[in-house]
Amino acid sequence: MIDIKHLSKYFNDQKVLDDITLHVNTGEIFAIVGHSGAGKSTLLRCINGLEGFSEGSVNVLGQEVKHLNESGLGALRSQIGMIFQNFSLLNQKNVYDNIALPMKVWGYSKEKIQGRVDELLKLVGLEAKKCVYPKELSGGQKQRVAIARALTLNPKILLSDEATSALDPNTTKSILELLQEINIKLGVTIIIVTHEMDVVKRVASRALLLEDGKVIGLGRIEELFLRPDEKMMRFLGEDEELPQEGVNIRLFFPSNVSYQPIVTKMARELNLNFNIVWGKLEKLNDHVVGSLVINIDEQNATSITAYLQEKTEVIWEVL
Ligand SMILES: Nc1ncnc2c1ncn2[C@@H]1O[C@H](COP(=O)(O)OP(=O)(O)OP(=O)(O)O)[C@@H](O)[C@H]1O
Ligand SMILES: [Mg+2]
Repeated sequence: MIDIKHLSKYFNDQKVLDDITLHVNTGEIFAIVGHSGAGKSTLLRCINGLEGFSEGSVNVLGQEVKHLNESGLGALRSQIGMIFQNFSLLNQKNVYDNIALPMKVWGYSKEKIQGRVDELLKLVGLEAKKCVYPKELSGGQKQRVAIARALTLNPKILLSDEATSALDPNTTKSILELLQEINIKLGVTIIIVTHEMDVVKRVASRALLLEDGKVIGLGRIEELFLRPDEKMMRFLGEDEELPQEGVNIRLFFPSNVSYQPIVTKMARELNLNFNIVWGKLEKLNDHVVGSLVINIDEQNATSITAYLQEKTEVIWEVL
């Protein structure tokens, strides 16, 4: 679907994307996460050919973007919808005309446009606002109009650049639900750029973490958030203060066992005590997963690791 290899890009002397390699699968919701200035928007713009690049390759829907001429780029962009933080609606046009715009540009008939716009208004739940102007809409409603407009040409890919950053938490939730619905119902592959971890955890199956144009993490979000390596910890601003004495063991509870009383059961059955020194339960997509660090006496390490291995489905590592 999207295959990026060793992509590097400079603005003047500044390297803003540094050797990015990334594959986005058909039908997934993929997140690009990073602090301000990390290069997220630039990476998105390389995907739809709005931005050139100096090194590497970007292949989208089977086409090498840097080899496309203007008409090839136009055709590619018609297959890629895009939404933004500031909605980018035309204020002097009503909701219907805003959504209809891409189809008008591509010269579709009035009937075709009408049918498609009505369908999309229904999908985004704005049938009643058809003739209203943007200034009369809430932020969430404006983003729904922008989403409908991005879908008019039936794109295979939807790029979302901080689309929920200007919205309150409840509106964010409803927009994310709409994006999930679009992903499932229409099979659109979605790339979400965000600096909000909650957005990632809620909807993405995999994520790329960018820092100063470099990839510092890439993978399934369960892995990224619950078994973070050092770089990822720093990125998330999480510092584990673990005891120096004894042995620290990290337990990772996949969603099927996250609510089971494994730790207390283990303590009872082995008749041992230990300290829980760090822990969290997280909702990732619709799954609850957990991670816990326990501190044990050195002499009990063997019996505890043997128990974890043989009697539980917990994934563990000695730290
Ligand atoms: N047109 C441009 N000319 C020069 N430098 C640019 C240009 N666009 C972006 N940059 C620089 O490239 C870097 C990456 O910018 P980019 O907009 O991709 O970051 P971002 O991760 O999207 O940040 P934000 O979260 O603030 O939107 C920044 O240092 C920025 O100043
Ligand atoms: Mg940006």
